[in-house]
Amino acid sequence: MAGNRAIVYRGPGRVTVEDISFPDLILRDGPGVNPLNVGRKCEHGVILKVITTNICGSDQHMVRGRTTAPSGLVLGHEITGEVIEVGRDVEFIKKGDLVSVPFNIACGRCRSCKEQHTHICENVNPDRPGSAYGYVDMGGWVGGQSEYVMVPYADFQLLKFPDKDQAMEKILDLTMLSDIFPTGYHGAVSAGVKPGSTVYVAGAGPVGLAAAHSAQLLGASVVIVGDLNSERLAQARSFGCETVNLKEHPNLGEQIEQILGIPEVDCAIDCVGFEAHGHGAGAGEAPAAVLNSIMDVTRAGGRLGIPGLYVTGDPGAVDEDAKIGTLKVRLGLGWAKAHTFVTGQTPVMKYHRDLMMAILSGKAQIAKAVNATLISLDQAPAAYAEFDQGASKKFVIDPHGVLK
Ligand SMILES: NC(=O)c1ccc[n+]([C@@H]2O[C@H](COP(=O)([O-])OP(=O)(O)OC[C@H]3O[C@@H](n4cnc5c(N)ncnc54)[C@H](O)[C@@H]3O)[C@@H](O)[C@H]2O)c1
Ligand SMILES: [Zn+2]
Ligand SMILES: [Zn+2]
Repeated sequence: MAGNRAIVYRGPGRVTVEDISFPDLILRDGPGVNPLNVGRKCEHGVILKVITTNICGSDQHMVRGRTTAPSGLVLGHEITGEVIEVGRDVEFIKKGDLVSVPFNIACGRCRSCKEQHTHICENVNPDRPGSAYGYVDMGGWVGGQSEYVMVPYADFQLLKFPDKDQAMEKILDLTMLSDIFPTGYHGAVSAGVKPGSTVYVAGAGPVGLAAAHSAQLLGASVVIVGDLNSERLAQARSFGCETVNLKEHPNLGEQIEQILGIPEVDCAIDCVGFEAHGHGAGAGEAPAAVLNSIMDVTRAGGRLGIPGLYVTGDPGAVDEDAKIGTLKVRLGLGWAKAHTFVTGQTPVMKYHRDLMMAILSGKAQIAKAVNATLISLDQAPAAYAEFDQGASKKFVIDPHGVLK
């Protein structure tokens, strides 16, 4: 039997490449596997040869030691692969299919799934609704930053690319369908972006850049991206965004006024989450900074898309309250302005087919927007460190070297 090499979390700041067992159509015990999930049969699943698998800002929260992720956790929830084995109960997905895997795991049978809320499936994580591969508190499904991975509920979840050769040509774009393209798009849709909208995107990491490109696809008149990282802001400008450097200019409203003539936008998207920094050169971490600033600059009646991640447990938080996810959010301001807040994981399946067509037709240029950068499995530990330092790259792992 073939081996299987994977990226494994070994404690704060440490990821390694290790040999793990070859996947099977069953969820076996291992680091982070919920006891109620051990031995779960997955005849509705498939084994994939992983073609691409991306490193995400969500992985960084764990790798920075900002969650309770256990040592030994196999990382990776952004997976694109080729089907090499199908379970007994899989009817429509076939061996040889090239597919995108939504990062959420969803059964297709529960009330949430039936209502298209596949990000809060009730049957895959015994702890709470919602699940993902290779992630803390998500049921223990083995991550896909590896050569091979098992994906359950294949018929329901997998998005098959219509033509393999065409897909391989656009694989650096299509690999973003497993998470950040739908996530950025969901942020923009949740914020109510439509033709002519003025939009503020907080964060110029891959999710922020994906949200900015999505806002452009939805017809926004102006997209303003804010961050403290000048290299990432230059990346946002490379595809037509306005930018605000919040390290140099802590007053966001004034900067928006310089661009738009008024200190206000129609729509705002938080692509930062709970590890947000305060504005200004000397500012430290301020977990509610983005939430408060987007309430400040969004017009009354506006909508706030919040794909940025917020947690219920953060051992490295700045204060006792933040350690359990209680933040100093000025809700009174949001209430007074009648803002709508949309939070949570992205229901990837709501968007991935449409966005695939946008990629295949050439309308969407997501790989270019996020600066997709191909690496090998062995380069992944260094890439984690570089990404943590704020590199303006979206790292795409090619575990079998098929793309290089
Ligand atoms: N909802 C979902 O389903 C989903 C999916 C994927 C990622 N996420 C989350 O989205 C967030 C962004 O992901 P990413 O991969 O782009 O992460 P990232 O860490 O690469 O990017 C975050 C960026 O925010 C910037 N930042 C920090 N404080 C800021 C502030 N006050 N204002 C503006 N920018 C600020 C940082 O400098 C950094 O460039 C993460 O929290 C991630 O977990 C959520
Ligand atoms: Zn992700
Ligand atoms: Zn379900």
